[in-house]
Amino acid sequence: MHDYQDRDYGDAIADVYDAWYGDITDLDASVDFLARFTGEGRVLELGIGTGRLAVPLAATGASIVGIDVSGAMLDRLRAKDPDGRIHSILGDMVDDLPDGPFDLVFVAYNTFFNVRDVDRQQLLVRRVADRLAPNGVFVVEAFVPESDRPGGDTVGIRSMTADSVVLRADRHDRDAQTIDGQLVEITEAGGVRLRPYRIRYATPDQLDDMARQAGLVLAERWENTLQHPFDTESPTHVSVYRHA
Ligand SMILES: C[S@@+](CC[C@H](N)C(=O)[O-])C[C@H]1O[C@@H](n2cnc3c(N)ncnc32)[C@H](O)[C@@H]1O
Repeated sequence: MHDYQDRDYGDAIADVYDAWYGDITDLDASVDFLARFTGEGRVLELGIGTGRLAVPLAATGASIVGIDVSGAMLDRLRAKDPDGRIHSILGDMVDDLPDGPFDLVFVAYNTFFNVRDVDRQQLLVRRVADRLAPNGVFVVEAFVPESDRPGGDTVGIRSMTADSVVLRADRHDRDAQTIDGQLVEITEAGGVRLRPYRIRYATPDQLDDMARQAGLVLAERWENTLQHPFDTESPTHVSVYRHA
């Protein structure tokens, strides 16, 4: 048994990530949305993973640097980027950020919440703000936490076929705003496979507050990269911050 490390999520999920999450959001819409901000400039993706977004974004001509704490995820990225157009860094998105300036820094698909401590989340936003070009933007895509989700333990089915089931078992601490979980894959052929995750979630208002404290302001907020309007029922948000 070992204590959870930040790299554990990526290292355990890398082999199935693209199959399970490749179409979790509209890829074309996400690339078009991000390309609005790239211009000729430099782009930084936090938690770049397998390059689900970065690989097609690089194909638009963007110059991308990506950081990820999981070597297994970066191995998958490099296999999809044989020309080495994307510069990847194995490291922590809070402690090992490359120098700026960047015209676009983005963190997609709840990855901001992988920073599991509120003070480190605030530190990350400050460090991103320090690296943004004068007209640069910081784009955060995340779920909106359900205010009535009870604390405690939940087990549910993520996916099921005739010869396998993936269960999601998680523990929600409402006060700490943390969820510790396992994706438990049970197959006839392969036995049991565990894929752990841990997050500290934040509401859109809390993110706005972190941004404000780092000298950033909210410039746009949408429900998703298709630019559906954001409202109180939206399950997700895409928020664009700029220097105040
Ligand atoms: C949900 S995946 C998202 C991957 C990719 N951005 C996408 O949208 O498909 C989260 C990624 O963040 C990485 N990650 C988690 N904690 C991290 C940290 N502290 N520093 C850098 N990367 C981290 C994981 O290894 C994983 O690749």
